[in-house]
Amino acid sequence: MASLKWCICIFLSLLSSISSISAAIIVVDQSKRGGFTTVQAAINSIPSGNTIWTTIDIKQGTYREQVIIPEDKPFIILKGAGTKNTIISWNGHGAIDATATFSSEANNTIARDISFMNSYNSPPKSNRNPMDQAVAARILGDKSAFYRCGFFGLQDTLWDVQGRHYYKSCTIEGAVDFIFGDAQSLYEGCTISVVAGSVNGPGFITAQGRENPNDKSGFVFYNCNIIGDGKVYLGRPWRSYARVLFYNTQMSDIIVPQGWDAWKNTGNENRLSLSEYKSRGPGSMSSRRVGWAKKLNEGEANKLATISFIDNHGWIENVFKNLN
Ligand SMILES: *[C@@H]1O[C@H](CO)[C@@H](O)[C@H](O)[C@H]1NC(C)=O
Repeated sequence: MASLKWCICIFLSLLSSISSISAAIIVVDQSKRGGFTTVQAAINSIPSGNTIWTTIDIKQGTYREQVIIPEDKPFIILKGAGTKNTIISWNGHGAIDATATFSSEANNTIARDISFMNSYNSPPKSNRNPMDQAVAARILGDKSAFYRCGFFGLQDTLWDVQGRHYYKSCTIEGAVDFIFGDAQSLYEGCTISVVAGSVNGPGFITAQGRENPNDKSGFVFYNCNIIGDGKVYLGRPWRSYARVLFYNTQMSDIIVPQGWDAWKNTGNENRLSLSEYKSRGPGSMSSRRVGWAKKLNEGEANKLATISFIDNHGWIENVFKNLN
C-alpha cells in the first residue's frame, strides 16, 4: 500500500513537470509510423481551449490538404522537416476566406521548418490556370511566429490578416500583392522571392491594409533579401494609411525605379507611410523613387525595425524557448 502511494506520487509529480515544460508531441507521418497521416487530423485531436504548448511533428512529405488551426486551439507548434521536405499544398482560388491552403486563427501559434503552398498558380508555369487570388497562408491569430517557413504562390500568397506576427528566416514567393493584409508584422532575415517574370507587367510585393493613423499595423522588413525575375514594385497601398518599411534590405535589379505605386490613393499619398531605410543593391536606386515615398530618419526607422514593434510584453520569449 505504501509503495503504491509512493508510485502515484512520483507519477503525479512527473506529470506536472511534463506539462510545465510543455512536452506534448503528436506525430504526423504519411507512412503511418506516427499517430496521424494528415495534419488536420492531428489538429482535430487537440482539445478546444488547449493551454499546453503542443508540437505537431510533421514528417517529410507533401500533404495535399487544407489545414486550419481554429481560434479555440492556441499553443500549437507545427514542426516540419525543412521547407523542401514538409509541404502543405492545396489548390484553391477565388474566395480567399475559404480557399487558403493554411489558415491560422488561434493566438500563440508557431510554425517552423515547413512550407505552405497554393498550387493553383505555383510553382509558376507548372499549369495553365490563369492568375487568380490564391492564398497559401492566412494568418489571423495574435502572437504568432514563423521560423524558417516557406510560403509559395503567385497572387496573394501570404495574407497577413491581423495580429502581431514574427517571421524569421522565411521565404515568401509570389508576383502580385503577395504579402498583404493588416497585421503588425516583423519580417527578419527573410527572402522575398519574386516570380513576376511569369505575369504581364510589373508585380507588387506588398499590399498593406492599414486603415487609419491610429492602427498599429504595418509590415517591417528587416535585413531581408529581394531576389527573383520580372519587374516588381515594393508595394501598393491596399488601404489609405498603409505602412511598410524595408530596412537594410538587399534589392536585386528587379525593383522598378519608382519603387511604389499609389493605386487607389492618388492625391492622398501624404497619408501613406511606404518607406525604405538603408536599402542595398542594384534595385535600391532611391533617387528615382516616387517623391511621396516616406522618408524616415534614423530614430523613426529604428523604432519600427525592432522586436518591440511587435512585442512589449515578452510573448516572443516564449517563442524562442520553443524553438530550441
Ligand atoms: C486573441 O488575442 C486577441 C488580441 O490579444 C484577443 O482580443 C482575443 O480575445 C484572443 N482570442 C482568444 C480566443 O483568446
